[in-house]
Amino acid sequence: MAAADVRALIASSGLPVLEARVLLGHALQVNRAWLIAHDTDPLTDEQVSAYQQLAERRRAGEPVAYLLGEKEFMGHTFRVTPSVLIPRADTEVLVETALADLQGKTRPAVLDMGTGSGAIAVSLALARPDADVIATDVSADALAVAQKNAISLGARVRCAQGSWFDALNSAGVPAVYDVIVSNPPYISSSDAHLDQGDLRFEPRQALTDFRDGLEAVRIIVAGAKQYLNVGGSLWLEHGWDQAAAVRELLVAAGFQRVSSRRDLSDIERISGGYL
Ligand SMILES: C[S@@+](CC[C@H](N)C(=O)[O-])C[C@H]1O[C@@H](n2cnc3c(N)ncnc32)[C@H](O)[C@@H]1O
Repeated sequence: MAAADVRALIASSGLPVLEARVLLGHALQVNRAWLIAHDTDPLTDEQVSAYQQLAERRRAGEPVAYLLGEKEFMGHTFRVTPSVLIPRADTEVLVETALADLQGKTRPAVLDMGTGSGAIAVSLALARPDADVIATDVSADALAVAQKNAISLGARVRCAQGSWFDALNSAGVPAVYDVIVSNPPYISSSDAHLDQGDLRFEPRQALTDFRDGLEAVRIIVAGAKQYLNVGGSLWLEHGWDQAAAVRELLVAAGFQRVSSRRDLSDIERISGGYL
């Protein structure tokens, strides 16, 4: 094979240029500026092979974030593995909404249920270092990733394993919270998207409740009141067509000032209310 260079590898990869560049940078452990400055330098067989393996996996559909092992969220770099959902930019609205509710509260207690990579909990703890942030998940593997992210990003987050509110049986966690947030699995088990694109590679239990998509929301809404301070809030991320149903559940459970927030695509994707 003729000696390959950066330019040739990117052109022949069958991937969008931006993705090819990111994967090649990762394989060579160099940044974009290096790739541009050295685009006709010959690469070693090892470098070419490292890149081609990544490109092959990408062509087979594996998400770029899993190939890189990281994803940006709220300006922080989170480690991600196939045990956790890849954090989505839309979820930043949930973090910003929670932060707005924490304004004026000193040393608030915050609960992130179904933390996955810890993206929400760690971002909240970094923005509010005085907060006591508890992150839960049913998946021990996910919690291990969240814990690593908290440590590497210098966030004070305590992790507790268990199904929804059962995780709070661990000793030492607050009995009540100022804000509870969750981005629970909300895709219906019958949704064909589960077998398409990046979702095929993400943990099933992070995506679907294996029912109609609202089962986890029902559990969280029904249980949250018992764990909220008076005036405390609950905010949930949900699907593009679930806002009205989630608001209805919140109102039925006795929440006040129930409302929804729009995501970056102007769709109601977060709903919540106050006790
Ligand atoms: C949509 S992902 C959200 C991950 C992360 N919070 C984020 O926004 O990127 C849902 C998370 O809920 C967790 N989960 C699923 N069932 C659960 C249960 N019964 N109790 C607690 N967590 C659960 C999954 O393991 C997954 O990490």
